[in-house]
Amino acid sequence: MSTTFQLDTATSRANPTPAPMKRLTVPAIRQRKKDGVTAEPVVMLTAYTARQAQLLDAHCDLLLVGDSLGQVIYGLPSSVPVTLDMMIAHGAAVVRGSYHAAVVVDMPFGTYEQSPEQAFASASRVLKETGCAAIKLEGGEAMAPTVAFLTQRGIPVMGHVGLTPQAVNVLGGYNARGRSEAEAAKIVGDAKALDKAGAFAVVIEGVVEPIAIAITQAVACPTIGIGASAQCDGQVLVTEDMLGMFERVPRFVKIYENIAEVISGAAAKYAEEVRARSFPGEEQTYQPRAPKA
Ligand code: KIV
Repeated sequence: MSTTFQLDTATSRANPTPAPMKRLTVPAIRQRKKDGVTAEPVVMLTAYTARQAQLLDAHCDLLLVGDSLGQVIYGLPSSVPVTLDMMIAHGAAVVRGSYHAAVVVDMPFGTYEQSPEQAFASASRVLKETGCAAIKLEGGEAMAPTVAFLTQRGIPVMGHVGLTPQAVNVLGGYNARGRSEAEAAKIVGDAKALDKAGAFAVVIEGVVEPIAIAITQAVACPTIGIGASAQCDGQVLVTEDMLGMFERVPRFVKIYENIAEVISGAAAKYAEEVRARSFPGEEQTYQPRAPKA
């Protein structure tokens, strides 16, 4: 097994570790796009827990431990209050639960923007304490020197432009970006700056489609769209959104299952059986062993 981080099946409820396999690397993802063409689109989903990672891993090239976990897992109003310790705890769980996809961990708000040195201190903690392959940070041109600083020091960086949720207090909401010519030009410039600085991929979130297409054609690294365009080099969604865990999701989410209904239905049945004293049944209870003859 060439993967460093392996499931310890003796002490967890994990599935047995599958056949030995090499984990996808950041350079392999970067090289998916050759001369502006990505023959095999990059598949990314968010994951926050070990079990979720186990279920998604075989299907994904990248697992993103997104700071969206603030809203999805912790019920926070935005990703702004998410801390580095939260990201590290969930990042380590996702690395433990996966063996195939490269794991990317989001840098939370306030842990990288001040200076490249602050970013390096935070990001190196993330890499050391989780075993992930790369970090993601939000912001365009202003973050380019930080992206160069990190990549030149051994930390692969995924960029994130367009609708950048950590900037919700500046943007004033989560609406699609780039409806004016000036804003569109700024977003394209942001992506180009990150690409030039050495980002191995760039997430494009919540922009009008022509911007996503223009960026995808303009940058050398793969673009990963969310609310962007099918012409991006890859796609990402928040897993809980595509599983139908929430009643309200952004327009760009396609719901592939209705897990909320499944969970709520199972809880209702369980509650009914507990109240009727029909659970636990014979199969779920232990009886004394017959005395040895
Ligand atoms: O935090 C997150 O989940 C993200 C994705 C939506 C790209 O940044």
